[in-house]
Amino acid sequence: MAADTQAAEQAVSTSIEWLTRFGGTDLEDLCRATEAAIQDGNGFGWLRVPPRDKLESYWRGVLLVPDRQLVVARLDGTVVGSAQLVRPPANNEAQAFAAMVTTFFVAPWARGHGLARRLLTAIDQRAAEMGFEAIELNVRDTQTAAIALYESHGYVRWATKQKYAKANGAFIVGHYYQKEITPIVREGAAPATVSAMERR
Ligand SMILES: CC(C)(COP(=O)(O)OP(=O)(O)OC[C@H]1O[C@@H](n2cnc3c(N)ncnc32)[C@H](O)[C@@H]1OP(=O)(O)O)[C@@H](O)C(=O)NCCC(=O)NCCS
Repeated sequence: MAADTQAAEQAVSTSIEWLTRFGGTDLEDLCRATEAAIQDGNGFGWLRVPPRDKLESYWRGVLLVPDRQLVVARLDGTVVGSAQLVRPPANNEAQAFAAMVTTFFVAPWARGHGLARRLLTAIDQRAAEMGFEAIELNVRDTQTAAIALYESHGYVRWATKQKYAKANGAFIVGHYYQKEITPIVREGAAPATVSAMERR
């Protein structure tokens, strides 16, 4: 690593954290990062930046849903990115082996510090601890950086949908990915499939 790159890396602190509550300015920072990601062209569904109160309600709601777990990336303590690990609904016993990743992004100003890969690694670990055998996600064809990252992180494309999303009147192609993981089975712990059945 060149000396100037090394110095730049040493100048920032980065961390990955699973959140169960928003502390300090976390919610505001997450909303700001989300707004920047939407403006940059990836709004995980949102096409335009929604009013701030709508965004706040969305993120507060995420923490209230037991089947959703929120992991955030911090740069110098500030939340700059996120991902959610989502359990399949309780009725879906047949697919209880696979968790889903959504709202995966890093704000444009915080990219290039390895935060996205660390978010994916944290998700691998948490999903394995929860007993899952696979992780699934989908992504627009236009998100080339994310696609390169997913594929280098072990995600395998299994389908492509021509009419995946629609923006400005035009359809956008999307891809579906799955990564197989080895569940961490702890003595006495129920596998994900059983846990799903017990939630009812
Ligand atoms: C994709 C994204 C999450 C990457 O965030 P990041 O924090 O900059 O990524 P990292 O610094 O962890 O880099 C991860 C790897 O991706 C590579 N990468 C980053 N940007 C890239 C690009 N534009 N093209 C190719 N590879 C790229 C890096 O070189 C790195 O590789 P390495 O780990 O082998 O060194 C970020 O660009 C983003 O949020 N994009 C828009 C949102 C999005 O597309 N989300 C996915 C929708 S499902």
